[in-house]
Amino acid sequence: MSIQNIARDLVASGKGILAADESNGTANKRFEALSIPQTFEMRRRWRELLFTTLGIETGISGVILYDETIRQRSDDGIYLSKLLYDKGILVGIKVDEGTDNLPNFPGEKITKGLDNLEERLYEYKEMGASFTKWRAVISIGEDLPTNEAIEANAYLLSQYSALSQKVGLVPIVEPEVLMEGSHSMARCKEVTENAHKILFEYLKKYRVDLSGLILKSNMVLPGKDSDEKVSPKDVAEATLSVFKNAVPHDVPGIVFLSGGQSAIDATLNLNEIAKMGPQPWEVTFSYSRALQSPVMEVWRGNDVNAERAQEVFKMRIKETVAASGGKYQGK
Ligand code: G3H
Repeated sequence: MSIQNIARDLVASGKGILAADESNGTANKRFEALSIPQTFEMRRRWRELLFTTLGIETGISGVILYDETIRQRSDDGIYLSKLLYDKGILVGIKVDEGTDNLPNFPGEKITKGLDNLEERLYEYKEMGASFTKWRAVISIGEDLPTNEAIEANAYLLSQYSALSQKVGLVPIVEPEVLMEGSHSMARCKEVTENAHKILFEYLKKYRVDLSGLILKSNMVLPGKDSDEKVSPKDVAEATLSVFKNAVPHDVPGIVFLSGGQSAIDATLNLNEIAKMGPQPWEVTFSYSRALQSPVMEVWRGNDVNAERAQEVFKMRIKETVAASGGKYQGK
């Protein structure tokens, strides 16, 4: 399948992406909070629970995996990635290798993972992957972010994208503006727009085919520690205004991360964004926490709760899909 077709399938109307690509460190942190043992086996069981939930393919176009998961098998000895493939769900893989401090730029991060990337991409393709993800993080603070940090990350995102496309994999480029801090929504808007503009400048400069790529973006929100009250309509207007000013129309789709919003906020905000459509790009979700957290709270590492957890997962997918069409009715 061409990268253009894969990209279009990923953002097909009525569907979205499940991000299940938490690194072991991140997955363990989420387990720890619920007193779930932080082991290879528990991470495997958790992902198997999600992927074997009946009917997820009606609302999930693709799942992003982590390196450990793409190599793991189910209780029945089937690769977890094959469970997805057999449901018609596209398999994706996080290929960045986390972040390091950016030298000379206190408080700013650079994403690692370009070394041997091409080799790894061929291996993942062989293992059934159709798309990849690379996350850059941008912090807002006093005098932060700097354009230098945004540019360094945009360069890396462009190189990663070019290599993914060379191998026939669709890159999901994720310049995530973090929610940490007490900044205003206006500041988040300004930073997100600048980051997206710089990113697309680099993607074009390095000849990345924008029609075979997906943008993964944060929503425009006030910082977690800010007292500013905003409505889903405010969030939707600010977020769409950024996209209108910064995202070229040849990009087939934009997907959202949930970024630490509650499941309900991520759903209400997405719903409001969708209600303002149609847009020149497909717009949908690529949530990790907003889809998984309520499910994990029911499971708590105990298989006795697995069935109930899968019911909650089905419900979260149903609600989020409804929101992606502007049809969410909940409160
Ligand atoms: O890179 C971030 C994940 O793919 C999305 O996670 O929805 O919990 O922010 P999140």
